[in-house]
Amino acid sequence: MLWRGRFEEGPSEVFQRFSWSLHFDRRLFKVDILGSQAYARALARVGILTAAECTLICDTLASIEKNDEAGAATAPDEDIHSYVIRLLKEKAGAVADKIHTGRSRNEQVSLDVRLWLRGEIDTTLALLRALMGLLLDFADRHPDAIVAGYTHMRRAQPVTWAHYLLAYYEMFSRDLERFTQARGRVNQMPLGSGALAGSGFPVDRHALAAELGFEGVTRNSMDVSADRDFLLDYLSAASVCMTHLSRLAEDWILYSSDEFGWLELGDGVTSGSSLMPQKKNPDSLELIRGKSGRVFGALTSLLTTMKGLPMTYNRDMQEDKEPLFMAVDQLCGSLEMACVVVQTTSLKTAPPLHAAEEGWLVATDLAEALARSGVPFHHAHTLVGELVLSSVKQGRKPADWTGEALHAFDPRFTPEMGVLMNPEEGMKTRTAPGGTAPATVRAALVEARQRLEVLSQ
Ligand code: ARG
Repeated sequence: MLWRGRFEEGPSEVFQRFSWSLHFDRRLFKVDILGSQAYARALARVGILTAAECTLICDTLASIEKNDEAGAATAPDEDIHSYVIRLLKEKAGAVADKIHTGRSRNEQVSLDVRLWLRGEIDTTLALLRALMGLLLDFADRHPDAIVAGYTHMRRAQPVTWAHYLLAYYEMFSRDLERFTQARGRVNQMPLGSGALAGSGFPVDRHALAAELGFEGVTRNSMDVSADRDFLLDYLSAASVCMTHLSRLAEDWILYSSDEFGWLELGDGVTSGSSLMPQKKNPDSLELIRGKSGRVFGALTSLLTTMKGLPMTYNRDMQEDKEPLFMAVDQLCGSLEMACVVVQTTSLKTAPPLHAAEEGWLVATDLAEALARSGVPFHHAHTLVGELVLSSVKQGRKPADWTGEALHAFDPRFTPEMGVLMNPEEGMKTRTAPGGTAPATVRAALVEARQRLEVLSQ
C-alpha cells in the first residue's frame, strides 16, 4: 500500500472492492513502467538515487515488464501503480521506497494515460488513413458511375458514385485533423507537478519529456492534477468519427437492400438467419451504427464526471478509464470493420443510374438551362415544376420527352434542352470546385489521393 502511516485501521473489504481499479487500469502496465524508469533517471540526475540504485530500479522494472503483466489480472493491489511498486519492492528491495520521491499518483495517472492514448491515437490515425484510401479505391473502380443523390430521403439530383464517396473521404479527413490536434494536447508531459502544487525536487521536466517522446511539458501543476480535457478531446473526436461511420453504415444498409439494390455486400461481412434461409443481413454495418451509441456514452459519461469537480484531483476522475478504454476499442474496431466492408462491397451500376433517370432528378438542370437562356430562375423553377406535375400525372419519365415536345409544352424550352433529360448531361455543368461534374470529380480524386499520400508520410 502506498499510504499507511496516518491510519489505525486498514480499508474495509467493501471499500477495497468498491475502489479498486486494477482490473481495468492494468492496461496501463507497460506505460506505467516506462514512466517509472524515466522518473528514476530524473531522480538520479538530482541526486535522490545513486547511479547504482537507478540502474537497479530500471533493470528490475524491465524484468517486471517482461514477466509480470499477467499477474495484474489476479493481484490484490488497489491500482496498477501500486501493483508495479509492490513488485519493485519485492524484487529490488528497499530502494523501491525512493521511487515516489516528489511524485504523486495524480500526475502518474495523467502521464500513463497520455502515453497509452498517444499510441492508441496513432493506431486510430492509421486506421483512418486506411479507410480513406479504400474509399478512393472504390471510387477509382467506378469513376463514371452515376447514382441518385438524396435530400430528405427523396431523390434530389444526380451525382457520381465517386463524388458520393469523396463526401465521406472529407468527413474522415476532418476526423484525422481532429485526432491529430487531440494528439498534440495529449502529448504534453505532466511529471514534475506533484500532487497539485509542483515538485519540490528540481527534476528536469524537459529532459523527461524528451526521453518519453513528448512534444512539450504541461505549464501548471494544478491544471495537471485536475485536467482530463485531453481525454474529452479524444472522445469528442471519436464521437464525431462514429457519427460518420454510423451514417455510412446507414446508407449502405439501405443501398444494399432489395429495395435499392445498388450495393452487394461481401459474404464475409454479412450473416444469415437461423430461420429464414434466404437472408443476407448487413450485421457488420448495423453493429458499427450501434456501437456509435456506446462511444457517445463515453463522452457524456466523462463530461458528466468532470463538470462539477472542485479543483484539483478528485477520485471521481478514476472513472475516466473504463469509458475511455471502451471507446478506443469500439472506435478502432469499427474503423477496422468499415475498412473490410468498403474493400468487399461492390456497386451494381444499373439500379442507381435507373434511379437517377426515372425520378425527375434532371429538373434542376432544366431550370438552370432556362436561367442561362435568360428566363429568371424563379420563373424557370415554376415552369419546370409544371412540366414535372403534368408528367407525373401522365406517368411520363424524363426520357419520354424530346426537345421538340418540350418546346411544344412551352416555347421557353428550346429544342436543344432535350439532351438534359439524360442525367449525364446536366452534371457536366457542375464544374465549380467541389461539384459533381465528372471532370471536376476526377480532379478531386487525384487531389484527395495526393493529400492522403502527404498524410501518410
Ligand atoms: N487509480 C487512481 C486514478 O485512476 C490513481 C490516483 C489515485 N490518487 C489518489 N489521490 N487517490 O485516478
